[in-house]
Amino acid sequence: MRRGRERGRAPGAQGPRRVKLTIVGGGGFRVPLVYGALLRRRATLPFDEVVLHDVSAARMARISAVLEGLGAERGERLPFRATTDLEEAVDGADFVFCAVRVGLLEGRVVDETVPLSYGVLGQETTGPGGICFALRTIPAMVEVAEAVARKAPDAWLVNFTNPAGMVTEAIQQVMGERAVGICDSPSGLCRRVAAALGRDADELWFDYFGLNHLGWLKAARDTREDLLPRLLADEAALTGFEEGALFGADWLQSLGMIPNEYLYYFYYGAETVDAIRESPASRGAYLLEQQARFYRGNGQPPADALAAWRATRHERERTYMAEARSAAGVEGGHASGDELPEEAGYEVEAMAVVEAIANNTRSVIICNTANRSALPFLDARAVVEVPAVVGRAGPQPVAIGPVPDHAAGLVQSIKAVERATIEAALTGSTSLAVKALALHPLVPSVNRAREIFEGYRARLPELQERFA
Ligand code: G6P
Ligand code: MN
Repeated sequence: MRRGRERGRAPGAQGPRRVKLTIVGGGGFRVPLVYGALLRRRATLPFDEVVLHDVSAARMARISAVLEGLGAERGERLPFRATTDLEEAVDGADFVFCAVRVGLLEGRVVDETVPLSYGVLGQETTGPGGICFALRTIPAMVEVAEAVARKAPDAWLVNFTNPAGMVTEAIQQVMGERAVGICDSPSGLCRRVAAALGRDADELWFDYFGLNHLGWLKAARDTREDLLPRLLADEAALTGFEEGALFGADWLQSLGMIPNEYLYYFYYGAETVDAIRESPASRGAYLLEQQARFYRGNGQPPADALAAWRATRHERERTYMAEARSAAGVEGGHASGDELPEEAGYEVEAMAVVEAIANNTRSVIICNTANRSALPFLDARAVVEVPAVVGRAGPQPVAIGPVPDHAAGLVQSIKAVERATIEAALTGSTSLAVKALALHPLVPSVNRAREIFEGYRARLPELQERFA
């Protein structure tokens, strides 16, 4: 076996050199998940150096204590350091992970509450909320991509920043297909379907297609056949897992596919809006309070910081998508980290991409990458979420074949919305921003779109500046 540190080496480089990972958004709440996964993979991943970058040194200090706690618990240390200087952070990096929240959770609260006041879905990434989130995030992410292109032209950027599909398409305009978008929901869906079938996910082939937070599983094949029809016919098995319980056996049988959980907001939009309006606080408002409490503990010793982080994470995951579950009448909380296998979750997707590229494993990973010819009803540069073979040359998306018209149609409409949003974000054009909102299937009229945009602009300084 080759030594770890040789693996990430650029072709033609002489002798061993240090392999560097930069985490942009290094003070973010999910960074300890990434660091924990790195610790577990010390033997197979090539990193010698981890650099955290964030605009807030205080948030990084809090997260650094949690990382110290994790290292101490595992009796292992992967050196890391923190900086607020972006150029220095990414300089010479081999991989850059990026998960930032422009406008913080205060911004999310605005994204979600403005449409709700018009009876329209208010959600982090789906509907008007996702458009507004993208309008302020894309300019900041383009700056990150430009810094990476200048300071680390050979780096791969693994992007978690939401809305991940739009953000990845926007930054591909700067750095091409070296930007790869990641989400944990498709792999989670495949894992749950495999479990419902009593099979190991590694033994199956999953025909999953769409855009980020807008995808469907249309087949789950073993060496003989597609097993999905069997699952769709078994009502008990269907309602025993997250997506089955949410959408209901009847609707899944009509579709003949299993949708990503985010399709709930399209198929049961009215019920979700009612459920959110009846809940005491929007998801953003709940998290704003919860996260502020956690970050206020700055200064605690590592073991206490780790315990506080774990408790906060547990609560966050139990209440994930609670409004959809309540609209669907599903009892109980979402599975939390403690109940999931260690090898699940979004950090594992990120590690899979890094491992596949650094070690040229040519693994199949569902990720957000340029379409090429995977979905024939979209052009080659559209960023889509499909299985891709990932090796040293990056992701090569696989062809998906025919998909039902209703799914292709929705994907095309939302791609048009995404592109109007990206252009609006890059140009500061109000009419394009309103067009993006008005074209969204969840926004019922052009006037509503105008009012929602005005509501956003009135409450968000970032938008006032850009959309004068
Ligand atoms: C999933 C999605 C992410 C999203 C998150 C929201 O993990 O894949 O894209 O940001 O849920 O969870 P939250 O706890 O912030 O509501
Ligand atoms: Mn996601």
